[in-house]
Amino acid sequence: MTTSPAELAQLRAILATLPRRPRSPETTAAPAVPFDALPPLTPALRAAIEAAALANNDRYLEAFLEPHSFCPFARGGRLRGQTRRIVHLAERAEAAPLLALFEDAAREPAHAVIQVILPMIEVAPEAWIRFCQDLTAAGNQARGEAQAVFAVAPLHPALRYSSANPYALIPLFRRTPDPTIQWVRLDALARLYAGRGSDKVYVDPEELDGYLARPRKSPLFERIAETNHAMATRLGIDEVERTLRDLADAARRRYTQLLLGAAPPGRAAAGGCPHRALATDTSPPRPALFARDDRWALAALDDLPPRAPRRFLADGVEVAVVRVDDRVHVLHGRCPHRNAPLSDAVVEVDRLVCPHHGWDFQLATGHSQGVPGAQVARFAAWIDDGLVWVDGRELRGFRASHAEVFEPGDDVL
Ligand code: FES
Repeated sequence: MTTSPAELAQLRAILATLPRRPRSPETTAAPAVPFDALPPLTPALRAAIEAAALANNDRYLEAFLEPHSFCPFARGGRLRGQTRRIVHLAERAEAAPLLALFEDAAREPAHAVIQVILPMIEVAPEAWIRFCQDLTAAGNQARGEAQAVFAVAPLHPALRYSSANPYALIPLFRRTPDPTIQWVRLDALARLYAGRGSDKVYVDPEELDGYLARPRKSPLFERIAETNHAMATRLGIDEVERTLRDLADAARRRYTQLLLGAAPPGRAAAGGCPHRALATDTSPPRPALFARDDRWALAALDDLPPRAPRRFLADGVEVAVVRVDDRVHVLHGRCPHRNAPLSDAVVEVDRLVCPHHGWDFQLATGHSQGVPGAQVARFAAWIDDGLVWVDGRELRGFRASHAEVFEPGDDVL
């Protein structure tokens, strides 16, 4: 049987999600952090978010992982106190505090599994996987080659998976509500696998014949993957994915509610909508650079920070421009709910979420998942010669058919 290019690509994607042993010397430095720092939080808000993050993780364990035994060690480890959970609020975009947690955890052998939960950060799954691996490599190497303590399993709400085989499905079970670093103590792993179907089996020579006559058990890791695959198939893989997506969406809603509730009451009272309390972008939209052949050059790609919407004005239409890796998305710049600038919005995986009342819009389509029927206009956009371009005909068509839309600069939150 040969492997098709599509299957190979799928396998590569899956392999990238699996822990690798960190050994290369160039990974010793603390890795760059692939997400922005959270805004400064008050002590009360910090405590509320930490509690919410633990509650979100509890729901993942209690509603999903443990009832179906997707991780046969999760419940026992938790009850025996071998699992430690830490909520880390990334108020600084630096790896150093995480490395300090690593070192702290490494010195506490009672904990076989350490989960560091980072609520509210925005990070793509691939960048998260790389970061977790490099961070773990740096932590292990800082202790010296002979003292590597942890393997890592990056957990993230949008890990890519495939149902092609039991191994390819593993990332689905690792879709936790928040990006989470899971460190597993290497000596605990060795104990777990010793004599339980790992690739090393120790047999008394006098029992060799009897051992060889017994049916071979598949290795433990393989058996778990197969059991999970069978369980997920029985439940329905789409259903499993939906359950996990619902848990992640509910987590995000809780954080949004906490942030909204934390807004200063004076600001809330100032506007018609009580949710106006969040900061809104009051700077005027930046004018497009120039127009050429029915297309508008909005900005140099390098001037756009990744995953941070920016507002521009082109042909009289306010647009929100979002750079994700080396792609750009250009959407109408105002939230269809109450006209907030979408430059206020945050990018959550593949969606733009307006922070004022939580309406969300797919970057690829402009459609909302959370508010059926809601949509924000999207314009064809591309990168050429280092510049971000948007289609001038589409802008004109939008202007003609939306004479009633708010004038740029209007705020009716
Ligand atoms: S203004 Fe209400 S969700 Fe955007």
